[in-house]
Amino acid sequence: MVTEPAPTKLTDTPLEPIGPLDTKVVQCLPKMTEGCLVPVYMDIQQAFVPAEIVSIREINGVHEFYIHYVNYNRRLDEWVTVDRMNLKELTPPSSSSSSSNNISHEIPVTSLPRTVQPSTTTTAAAAAASGAAELPLGNTTTFFLSDDADSLNSDLSRAATLPSLTDPLPATATPIAPTIARGNGNAHHSGAHSITKVKNINMIHLGRYFIKPWYFSPYPEEFTASSVVYICEFCLKYCKDVEALKRHRTKCTLFHPPGNEIYRNGTISFFEIDGRKNKSYAHNICLLAKLFLDHKTLYYDTDPFMFYILTEFDAQGFHIVGYFSKDKESSEDYNLSCILTLPPYQKKGYGHFMIEFSYTLSKLEGKIGTPEKPLSDLGLLSYRRYWSEAILQTLLKHKPKDNETDYPSLSINDLSEMTAIKKEDVLAALQNLNIIRYHQGSYVLSIPKDLFDSYQDKRRLRVDAKNLFWTPRVTTKSTNQFQSK
Ligand code: ACO
Ligand code: ZN
Repeated sequence: MVTEPAPTKLTDTPLEPIGPLDTKVVQCLPKMTEGCLVPVYMDIQQAFVPAEIVSIREINGVHEFYIHYVNYNRRLDEWVTVDRMNLKELTPPSSSSSSSNNISHEIPVTSLPRTVQPSTTTTAAAAAASGAAELPLGNTTTFFLSDDADSLNSDLSRAATLPSLTDPLPATATPIAPTIARGNGNAHHSGAHSITKVKNINMIHLGRYFIKPWYFSPYPEEFTASSVVYICEFCLKYCKDVEALKRHRTKCTLFHPPGNEIYRNGTISFFEIDGRKNKSYAHNICLLAKLFLDHKTLYYDTDPFMFYILTEFDAQGFHIVGYFSKDKESSEDYNLSCILTLPPYQKKGYGHFMIEFSYTLSKLEGKIGTPEKPLSDLGLLSYRRYWSEAILQTLLKHKPKDNETDYPSLSINDLSEMTAIKKEDVLAALQNLNIIRYHQGSYVLSIPKDLFDSYQDKRRLRVDAKNLFWTPRVTTKSTNQFQSK
């Protein structure tokens, strides 16, 4: 289920301070602690929304509150000051949540300056009910570099020419210090520690972009103080400032992710990286990915995973667009562990393209695949879209000819084998398309005539298997090591 409600009807709430709180009201108010619930004015909704105080800090004598809007995705969490809160509706933490917060700050409400006009509170339920075409991404501002940073880029760039796909590529990046966090980002989110609920990196700089992170990621503590963490777009090493990145780039010779280029079509390439052979890159990509993935925590072992890095080529090199990771061996038929399209590239079809690529690999392996669960809200939307399109395209191929009236009999199994999509996902997609009925003990498809028209293939990015140079890995019984076929 999508957990995030869509933007609801906007209210024209004036955001006006009403001065110090009425003393009678103040006496009734509980202390402000982590775990308290309070309506907070949410910019994208232009209304008050119930929120939970996750953390409290004091900067130059001003209290700031890290709040989570109840029933909204955590990427919308933010630091706010008290003037955005309706303190008259402050409620203390429930006993279960307060017990986990007993070391938290306590702020007497009387010490706070003022609050804002209470107004129509947008309840999460109302927001959820509104139904939306697009999920709010929140403060995910991305923008091109300023002149300064552009000159950094040209400093760093050397004219790169597109090498032939068969040209040998360096196997590993310039050695860099190992990071403290390791993993593929594929473990389920524990949510145990409130520290991991607070975004710790303010901004990253990657290639041509500044990107605002969505979630916590366990970068070393000293990086959390930087206003911007500068990341080498080729080896993903992270630096505290631009000077450190410049120094790094004088040593780092990469102009593409380390590993083998296994796919190229025009300017689009995939590089394959073994989490065992290139640990530093694997660790770095997990840290980067965690900034945009909430429901996963990091594993400390990247060895069991392969990483597929999607890049776009220009004169300065192969720029990372996104990636997905994949278990080398999965007893649960997982063909994709984590997927990320970097925010500046989202909603342009790259996610769909990577998902199609993951199923193309499964087809070559002769396997049926499914993504590792749980899916994020955006992951679920993307997969639903992919499954629906893949199944409709398969049905289209089997559409009756003009002189025929009946569809050839196709089972869920047939559809699963033809698409490499696991049966459960085929069934979910057919239900989502609303074209399957259970009738007298069997499933029957009933396809409205105009359905195919709405699913014509208009995608700019499609996987062209003839541009893929890849052989599945096999396990050798003697060593239990993976080797290329
Ligand atoms: N709002 C509504 N629908 C959306 C949105 C959105 N913000 N983003 C994607 N979709 C849906 C659309 O139906 C779209 O189909 P369309 O192209 O016909 O409109 C479909 O998803 C695919 O969109 P793409 O542009 O191909 O996907 P994108 O490149 O944006 O990548 C992804 C999707 C990878 C999920 C991206 O949003 C992302 O990286 N999110 C953060 C990390 C994440 O949540 N990853 C998935 C975790 S689950 C797992 O790893 C197994
Ligand atoms: Zn580098």
